[in-house]
Amino acid sequence: MCDDKVNRCECLHKTFAELKLFANLEEAQKATGCGLECEGCLPYLHLMFTTGETSFDIDDPRLTSVL
Ligand code: FES
Repeated sequence: MCDDKVNRCECLHKTFAELKLFANLEEAQKATGCGLECEGCLPYLHLMFTTGETSFDIDDPRLTSVL
């Protein structure tokens, strides 16, 4: 399956749905290292922990407001 949604940390091969099980971004990073390699998923991780959503458009307009 291939679509344009961002729904995982590609570096760690962890879906946002999996990472959402952690209490917050800090806990998820401590446990998995998500968002610490290329950091490409980091804005989406912030958005995920803010909104509870686990799939985002690559150019989600809310991205700028959470950075
Ligand atoms: S995609 Fe998450 S750190 Fe690279």
